[in-house]
Amino acid sequence: ADNEAQERIRAARARLGERAVLLCHHYQRADVYQHADLTGDSLKLARLASQTDAEYIVFCGVHFMAEVADILSKPSQLAILPDLAAGCSMADMANLAKVERCWRELAEVLDQPDELITPVTYINSAADLKAFCGEHGGIVCTSTNAPTILDWAFSKREKVLFFPDQHLGRWTGYKKGIPLDEMVVWDPDLEYGGLTPEQIRKAKILLWKGHCSVHQMFQPVHIDRWREKNPHGFVISHPESSLEVCQKSDYVGSTEYIINTIAAAPADTHWLVGTELNLVSRLAEEMKPQGKVVQFMAPTVCMCSTMQRIDPQHLAWTLENLAEGKVVNQIRVPQHEAELARIALDRMLAVS
Ligand code: 13P
Ligand code: SF4
Repeated sequence: ADNEAQERIRAARARLGERAVLLCHHYQRADVYQHADLTGDSLKLARLASQTDAEYIVFCGVHFMAEVADILSKPSQLAILPDLAAGCSMADMANLAKVERCWRELAEVLDQPDELITPVTYINSAADLKAFCGEHGGIVCTSTNAPTILDWAFSKREKVLFFPDQHLGRWTGYKKGIPLDEMVVWDPDLEYGGLTPEQIRKAKILLWKGHCSVHQMFQPVHIDRWREKNPHGFVISHPESSLEVCQKSDYVGSTEYIINTIAAAPADTHWLVGTELNLVSRLAEEMKPQGKVVQFMAPTVCMCSTMQRIDPQHLAWTLENLAEGKVVNQIRVPQHEAELARIALDRMLAVS
């Protein structure tokens, strides 16, 4: 059945020609990744989506990525997600109602949050949260540009509300020398985030209580055990990992950064990698000829289960429909929301 799906994908693509471009995130499974026209991390894919002329942008990734493609592409282009259930569990940890409630509660403590706080949303978030940032003088960041974006945010106002990933926010603030006790966790399920007015007034960064279910699996002890056996090896992690894991790593960065760093390293080096399994497995294969050993950080199998939903069957079905002129699984952000979200995305693209 799998070979059949591969054949169907090739046939439908041949019929579509240049009308469809396949953008693939690095976490995509191998049997889908092999069909990619273009690959990248979230920032690179956002830029690529804004530059392509194809009529259909078929996004092999997750929902928020297809939303960004829709917002940044021309009105005549359509963003397509081969399985509408491919969401991001971290993105779902924040929603507009909760962020608006947070903003109202901050207003009770600080009077004028719009003058004191820059809202920064990680690109792993729904379009209406990007719109919230566009409307309130805020900005979007990715794992690649978070340091630059945080500088921008603090150049505008004295505090930052960072959502939904507490780990990326904490690591980025920590690298800038912000004391850990000035970065406090805002729990959206508690009144005032579970914080006292004093804590809110003192905070430099309010970190939304969200995380990635894949990267939370990586633990400092995995690094310690590996280093005992590989004293000359290198550890590289994605900044969605915990602060302790990032602190113990030799390198920390986005998926594209991880790929480029290992590719540029000398032959015969050993690597422990703290990010999603599909990417690590692909790297391990690609680096073998240079004698590089690439290993996955956790002892358990952990893939991004939602990204995994984009499988050859869904891709074949989607492309066949498009080739027949039938638009399926289009991701369309309502116009007003898209305009506001675009403000926050354009701010990001301008400074990064
Ligand atoms: P990158 O932007 O580094 O590709 O990260 C996206 C993501 O969702 C990581 O979990
Ligand atoms: Fe979301 Fe985590 Fe999957 Fe990235 S790996 S898309 S943050 S659930």
